[in-house]
This record gives sequence, structure tokens and C-alpha cells, in this order.
Amino acid sequence: MRDRLILAIESSCDETSAAVIKNGTEILSNIVASQIKSHMRFGGVVPEVASRHHVEQITQIIELSLEEAAVTMADVDAVAVTEGPGLVGSLLIGVSAAKALAFAHQKPLIATNHIAGHIYANQFIEPLVFPLLALVVSGGHTELIYMPEDGVFEVVGETRDDAAGEAYDKIGRVLGLPYPGGKVMDEMAHQGQDCYHFPRAMIKEDNYDFSFSGLKSSVINTIHNARQKNEELDPYNVAASFQAAVVDVLVDKTIRAAKEKNVKKLLLAGGVAANKGLRTALTTAVERELPEVSLVIPPLSLCGDNAAMIGAAAFYQYKKQDFASLDLNARPGLGL
Ligand code: KG4
Ligand code: ZN
Repeated sequence: MRDRLILAIESSCDETSAAVIKNGTEILSNIVASQIKSHMRFGGVVPEVASRHHVEQITQIIELSLEEAAVTMADVDAVAVTEGPGLVGSLLIGVSAAKALAFAHQKPLIATNHIAGHIYANQFIEPLVFPLLALVVSGGHTELIYMPEDGVFEVVGETRDDAAGEAYDKIGRVLGLPYPGGKVMDEMAHQGQDCYHFPRAMIKEDNYDFSFSGLKSSVINTIHNARQKNEELDPYNVAASFQAAVVDVLVDKTIRAAKEKNVKKLLLAGGVAANKGLRTALTTAVERELPEVSLVIPPLSLCGDNAAMIGAAAFYQYKKQDFASLDLNARPGLGL
């Protein structure tokens, strides 16, 4: 097959991104415009602000992605876009832009799942081998996904309440850290001690689901109690103790699920995949308990939201000719 180029667009949350991807595995460009600075003063993503930024940025970001890849729309074989899950107003901007381009240039349109994108981001590192298990951890998701073959997803476990990244960000806010607190807390955790021994919810339960809201409340109560009593509280120790609890549960359940499913590959995906504590603990656990399984961890640039990952996932759909029609709509609650 001759080389295929996909122009991919991602706008599900607070990153406006466009990428040109060759054959699903080679990044010719991946432009990501983060809106974090605009949302910081609100302590979280404000959907209306996010949509407005997407509208203002998207045309320029798409042009930049084509320019950097040194291609024009005439060279592109298909236009892929994140259909969901995400914020409806944000998704709609990407979907509208993709539909307009597909229509104007008479290219096939591909509707791609954001979570599938996070998983396929690993395809830039090495080919996916099946069966595999992916731990997807982000600001909106914490899921264990089993893939018996390419394009087939089975949710083995998921969070029953908060996503891991959401818990990081909420605790970060109580500690007075800038939004999103995940990255800073990860750095702080490496300078503190796990002296609080926060609960590891559901770790012993016979399922692969997660729960982080009890842990989050326990951490926040500890901070509030100390403040009320004017007691000294070391935020580095709080971060280290919280991170130890999150990482313990994520690693324990992932290893157990990988063993039960007898997978060949284990993938880490999503914004929280950037977490140093999680990367190290999972690497050690796989070496110790599943030496025959190959663990793939994406580089930091591919952990957070980006359009390259959408182009990687879309390539599988392209090969199957799984195209969307021009009445495509955003699907904020889309599952895998
Ligand atoms: O995948 P992503 O960019 O957006 C969503 O789809 O949610 O993930 C963003 C999340 C945020 O909650 C952020 O705090 C978290 O990933 N995050 C981290 C780290 N870097 C980003 N959480 C823990 N440790 C990190 N190093
Ligand atoms: Zn994401």
C-alpha cells in the first residue's frame, strides 16, 4: 500500500491540536495549543472558555500542522477527528472543522474515540501486539481496557467515581497549587515520605474497578484538620502519601488483570501516564511479576491530549474503510 496521510484534529477538552500522521505510525507534525493559562485562574477547565479558544485557534493550528508536515490538503487521504468523549462545546469545534475540510476537499471523514487515541499513541513507539491490556489514566478517565485484537475494546475495569487525574487536581487545588495540580504533586511526591498511609480503596476486591473519591476526601480532611488545629503539615508528605496510595492501587489491579487476561503487551496511556511514580512502579512490577510481558510507556509528549494519537487510532479505521458521514455529531459520553 502506498503511504497514507491522515490529518487528525483533537479538541475534546482544553487542548486545540492538529497533526499529520503517515501510515498511523509516523508523526509528520503534531501541533498542540494548550489553554491551561486561561483556565488556571478558575482552578479548572471552564467549558465556555474552552470552546471560545478552540474557535479562535483551530484554523491556524490546522494550517500550522499542514505547513510543518510540508503537505497540502491535496496530499491528505482522510480527515480524522475526536468524536467523543469530552466537553460537547469543545468537541463540536473540532467536528465542525473536520467536516468542513472533508466536504471542501472531498476527503473521507473518520470519527475517532479519544480513549482509543490515548491507547494508540503507543503505536508511535512500537507496533501493538494482541492481546494487550491498556491502563488509561487521565483527568476524565481511569480504565483498564483489554484488546483481544486491533480495533476491539473490552472495558475490564473502571473508576466508580473520580478519575485519578481529577483526584490529583482537586487535592492540588486544596494545597493551593496551580491548575492542573497533577504534575506539581508528582514532583512534590518525590521530595516527601508516605507517612499518612491513606486508604487503598478496593485494592483487595475481586474486580478491576477503582475508586478515588474516598482517598481524595481522606487527604482533603487531613489537610483541613491540620489547618483547623494550626498543626504543621508538610505538603510534600501529603503528596507522597497520596501518590503512594494511587500508584499502589493502579499497579496492583493492572498486574492482576494482565495476569488473568494473559496478555502479551501492557500499555500505559493518558495524561497521568506522565506520572513518574506510576511509570517507575509499573516498570518494576512488570519486571518482577510479568517478565514475559512487554510494557510500553509513551514519552511525555504523547501522554497528554494531542491530535497525533487520534491519527494513529484513525489509521485502523481508515484501513477498514470505517468512514463517518457529514452529519457526524459530537458525542460527549461516547464509550469505547
Ligand atoms: O489526558 P489528559 O491530558 O486530559 C484528559 O483527557 O483528561 O490528562 C490530564 C490529566 C490532568 O488531571 C493532570 O493533572 C494529569 O493528567 N497529569 C498528571 C501528571 N501530568 C499530568 N497527574 C499526575 N502526575 C503527572 N505527572
Ligand atoms: Zn485525554
